[in-house]
Amino acid sequence: MNTYARLPVAFVRGQGVWVWDESGKRYLDALGGIAVNTLGHAHPKLVKAIADQAARLAHVSNLYRIAEQEKLADKLAAISGMDNAFFCNSGCEANEAAIKIARLFGHGKGIDSPAIVVMENAFHGRTLATLSATGSRKVQAGFEPLVSGFVRVPFNDLESIRQVAEHNRNIVAVLVEPIQGEGGIKIGETEYLRGLREICDRKGWLLMLDEVQCGLGRTGKWFVYQHAGVLPDVLALAKGLAGGVPIGSCLARGAAAGVFKPGNHGSTFGGNPLACAAALATLEAIEQERLMENAERIGTLIRDELGQALHDCKGLVDIRGRGLMVGAQLDRPCGELVTLALDAGLLINVTADNVVRLLPALVMNDAEARTLVAMLAPLVREFLARPPAPAQAARA
Ligand SMILES: Cc1ncc(COP(=O)(O)O)c(C=O)c1O
Repeated sequence: MNTYARLPVAFVRGQGVWVWDESGKRYLDALGGIAVNTLGHAHPKLVKAIADQAARLAHVSNLYRIAEQEKLADKLAAISGMDNAFFCNSGCEANEAAIKIARLFGHGKGIDSPAIVVMENAFHGRTLATLSATGSRKVQAGFEPLVSGFVRVPFNDLESIRQVAEHNRNIVAVLVEPIQGEGGIKIGETEYLRGLREICDRKGWLLMLDEVQCGLGRTGKWFVYQHAGVLPDVLALAKGLAGGVPIGSCLARGAAAGVFKPGNHGSTFGGNPLACAAALATLEAIEQERLMENAERIGTLIRDELGQALHDCKGLVDIRGRGLMVGAQLDRPCGELVTLALDAGLLINVTADNVVRLLPALVMNDAEARTLVAMLAPLVREFLARPPAPAQAARA
């Protein structure tokens, strides 16, 4: 189906942060499959883990115990501080599980119409419940009636949540991305995350963090909430968890961990041996190769050097991010930069209309990061030097 405005290129192989197309042209991959290829392409430990597991046992039903899944749940609990895990195949499914936990939790407290606080500019996925939780009319338009039970407030604004807390007795949870990815690499402030924890504790709400894009080592710690020293009650993960093999997970802690009972939720493929073996290999490589430290250092290098290269560009609004989650915001829509970069042999993405987004693999080295800056900076500079498009000029 025609769901993507695809670029006219097909890749046939990859190695580290590089990919090659059908004609043999090489590209520097600064997007990493939108934060999926944690270890880059064709990482030998991941390749071996997938091959070994596929040769032994790729799939069995969740009607049976799955040793790889149990091992992965233990590992995720150890690195996240959560108690248990449900496994699925994607980020929207991880959030669906979170939403269902919140509703069941609310009903358990005698609330007939439980509601969840969600944020402006949030992105939680494309299923009906998750697009209803998403704060973008573009994502929702045409799919009404939306799923009810979401109360939207501005991001990074504790006061508006306090107001909701005072007036709405149906609230049972807050669902938030600690760093908004699709929303334009907007960072939840440390005090904001701590404040959310405090409000949730006081009101008996669940703090549910969507770390589908920002989690799993990309920002220099396993999870963004660890920078703020708080723990969520529910945590949604996916994307980079198995380095490219589809997987999602909804983790829970405390009261939230005991909400689902047999029959409440499920997934045919979720947490099968193949996906879990890939995830275990990915997490092990992140630790063994100290990729979190690398992500933090290389991310700082990219932001600093891109900032220096573009310091005199008037149309550059901001370069921000944490670790290898980098956004460069321009003063105008800049989707065209994606094609210009592609022609130059660089894979990037533009989100929220005017934010160049970089989400490279955690294995990127100094030389590759400098190559990225050397390729991207002139493209941005030339783009900004052009006269604005007529619609833009009219608005100015
Ligand atoms: C923060 C966040 N949550 C959820 C999703 C949805 O994930 P998926 O596309 O795997 O369903 C995304 C995808 O971009 C995301 O960035």
